Amino acid sequence: MKDTIRVAVIGCGNIANSAHIPAYIASPHAEIKYFCDIIEEKAVACVEKYGCGTAVTDYRTILDDPELDAVSVCTHNDMHSVIAIDFMRHGKDVLCEKPAARVLSEAVEMERVSLETDRILSIGVCNRYSNAVNQIKALIDSGALGDVYHVYVSFRAYRSIPGIGGDFTTKAVSGGGALIDWGVHYLDLVEYVCGDPEPITVSGEAFCELGRDMQNYVYTHMWSENTKDLGGTYDVDDSVTGLIRTKGPTITFNGAWAENIDEPGTYIDFIGTKGGIRHEYLGGFTLYTVQNGMLCRTQPSFRSNDMHRDEVLDFAECVRSHTRNRNDIGKAILTSRIMQAVYDSSEAHREIVF
Ligand SMILES: NC(=O)c1ccc[n+]([C@@H]2O[C@H](COP(=O)([O-])OP(=O)(O)OC[C@H]3O[C@@H](n4cnc5c(N)ncnc54)[C@H](O)[C@@H]3O)[C@@H](O)[C@H]2O)c1
Repeated sequence: MKDTIRVAVIGCGNIANSAHIPAYIASPHAEIKYFCDIIEEKAVACVEKYGCGTAVTDYRTILDDPELDAVSVCTHNDMHSVIAIDFMRHGKDVLCEKPAARVLSEAVEMERVSLETDRILSIGVCNRYSNAVNQIKALIDSGALGDVYHVYVSFRAYRSIPGIGGDFTTKAVSGGGALIDWGVHYLDLVEYVCGDPEPITVSGEAFCELGRDMQNYVYTHMWSENTKDLGGTYDVDDSVTGLIRTKGPTITFNGAWAENIDEPGTYIDFIGTKGGIRHEYLGGFTLYTVQNGMLCRTQPSFRSNDMHRDEVLDFAECVRSHTRNRNDIGKAILTSRIMQAVYDSSEAHREIVF
């Protein structure tokens, strides 16, 4: 096992600076060799801020560096598959941000190359590293809820379309809107907690409504507001609904970046024959059970953690030991399959059968 791995961070924006870079710096077994961004100032700013590495603007110039073991791909969705595949073909392991790719065919190709080259390809579905999520998984695995037959997912916001008109709302770059950007985390979390059940049928409708008139869109807050471009493109889903039958529970969901209801709900209900759990997304959970003839409602306490950091640290360990981890493309691709089927179902206005 290597004592220290050398990594490159490709794309030096929000998620790179808030999660990947600090985690690599915190790891005693990782060293950042390159910061790469097509905007040179962003790469140079990282070198100056973190006091390590070399700034580069074209990732292809470092593909052949024999010292480089692994990369984090933190660019927009349109470059995920291209960059990840290039690095795997040059013998490097990859941690690629979510969603795996814009469309299922790109994700399938990424999985194929990962297997063919025997390189690790982890996808940034970081909830798999959340302590809360793992406590819920342990409870369900122990049978505390009985048979979990239905999971209801809600990722609804009032008016928060990110960077309207920019990359987030341009399908050619992002692959989609609220579902692929936000829903991916929720659906992957459900898949993980429920043992990665295979989908059987998917029915969905995706709506592109509230942001279409960009000039007159009224909002309360917007993340990535600095990337908005009111003369840009808006052709993605701002809300979505669907029903997924799996070999495990049936999953139903409602999601929205924006909808005309100011009752935002970001939670997941796991409903079983003996009990239920409501997980407040990014927070804790309430457990509903029956004990000794009484209805019980428990809010367990546990140590919360920084799931992004633990995800990156685990990736670094897996690179050292050459083992695949819990967010390997082989697992994460199920969510890509489901999301593609929701979009296909919406376009055809009919159910997709796997
Ligand atoms: N896991 C999470 O919770 C989470 C949170 C936020 C974003 N993300 C994902 O991370 C990715 C990046 O999002 P962000 O918010 O950090 O975006 P961002 O715009 O802040 O950063 C992306 C950076 O990539 C750079 N870039 C674009 N093309 C490049 C290329 N070919 N080579 C090198 N650099 C390139 C851009 O110049 C930019 O600096 C997206 O896929 C997003 O879905 C994940």
